[in-house]
Amino acid sequence: MFNAPLLDGIPRDIVALADYEAYARRRLDDNAWAYLDGAAADELTQAWNRAAFDRRALLPRVMADVAGGHCRTTLFGRELPSPVLLAPVAWQKLFHPDGELATAYAASALGAGFVLSTLASCQIEEVAAAARQGGDGPRWFQLYLQPDRSLNAELVQRAEAAGYEAIVFTVDAPLHGIRNREQRVGFQLPPGIEAVNLRRPAQPDDAEGAARRTRSDAEKRARRGPSAVFDDLMPHAPTWRDLEWLLATTRLPVIVKGVLHPDDAVRAVDLGAAGIIVSNHGGRTLDTLPASLDALPAVADRLLGRVPILLDGGVRRGTDIFKAIALGASAVLIGRPYIHALSAAGPLGVAHVLRLLQDELEATMALCGVASLDRISTDYFKDPSFRRTDP
Ligand SMILES: Cc1cc2nc3c(=O)[nH]c(=O)nc-3n(C[C@H](O)[C@H](O)[C@H](O)COP(=O)(O)O)c2cc1C
Repeated sequence: MFNAPLLDGIPRDIVALADYEAYARRRLDDNAWAYLDGAAADELTQAWNRAAFDRRALLPRVMADVAGGHCRTTLFGRELPSPVLLAPVAWQKLFHPDGELATAYAASALGAGFVLSTLASCQIEEVAAAARQGGDGPRWFQLYLQPDRSLNAELVQRAEAAGYEAIVFTVDAPLHGIRNREQRVGFQLPPGIEAVNLRRPAQPDDAEGAARRTRSDAEKRARRGPSAVFDDLMPHAPTWRDLEWLLATTRLPVIVKGVLHPDDAVRAVDLGAAGIIVSNHGGRTLDTLPASLDALPAVADRLLGRVPILLDGGVRRGTDIFKAIALGASAVLIGRPYIHALSAAGPLGVAHVLRLLQDELEATMALCGVASLDRISTDYFKDPSFRRTDP
């Protein structure tokens, strides 16, 4: 599964997030690489996520007194050293033998937030224990709605019991997306890697249950229409009713991930969502969705600070974080870059990536003349057409 050994330190030529990518590529096989690096169809949205950051130039103010400044923030009652969290990424044992345990440990050691995927390859409780060993960063649990509806309540209860502090409800990926790069290599999970939290204990003595299941499978097959998407997948896709159910089921804050339209953001918050993640799933679901950064201003303008807005997709630099905050985000999440670092150098790499982003953000703030996150605004953008109220 792994082509090259793990790094046992950080080489001198790794000085930015992008430097981990080449090391990760060497270590991972084609199967894991296509899953990690690929996106939907022609991968345009993935590229646009980056381009949206690159085309916004900054305009600094000099000689501002920023001594004693910092990039700390508070999110859902927790102080974070910087506004950067690790996004949910499935099956992390594809990238490191310790999988999510390594990631949670590293994030916690830095006091950073970590979101555990429903499709994690390690148990919810074991990841919580690894995080506690590392330190005291907040951990959140990401929920993909399961067709077996009782499993959803069970997952949420397990997360609550294990000390996860929020539920991230991902609503933009009811199906896998047209991932041509994965199709070209015939991506499949290697033996021994699976979504372990979705395993249900077999109940061989429940003959009645087995008969019921066989009957209902047969009925489903008989009713099945011609469309795999509409007849097989979409009946299990999350709806607004499911969000209502989740809000009534958990005492934890619910953060809805995968929102791009301002009306959806408002509806989720009206129902009781405690936060919104503006995201296009890193370009992995539907190609030609807008860049997350381009979708952010309209969402921020409609929510008017009612709840924290987070953003992910293409964040690679401290300057990117600065721009996201200027356009209305309270914090950002990163996906692929920390997995590159995990693949190349394990927990040390993940911690290094978080540290690099914090250092870069502090440098950006200092050089723009801003001493705290709440002072960041589009006044520091060169082009007024990229100001917040513009589309
Ligand atoms: C390999 C991989 C697996 C992912 N798995 C999940 C997942 O299980 N749940 C989820 O909500 N998002 C998942 N995502 C999306 C990320 O949470 C995040 O939205 C995206 O990676 C951000 O874009 P970036 O990779 O450009 O930083 C995954 C992303 C990648 C790259």
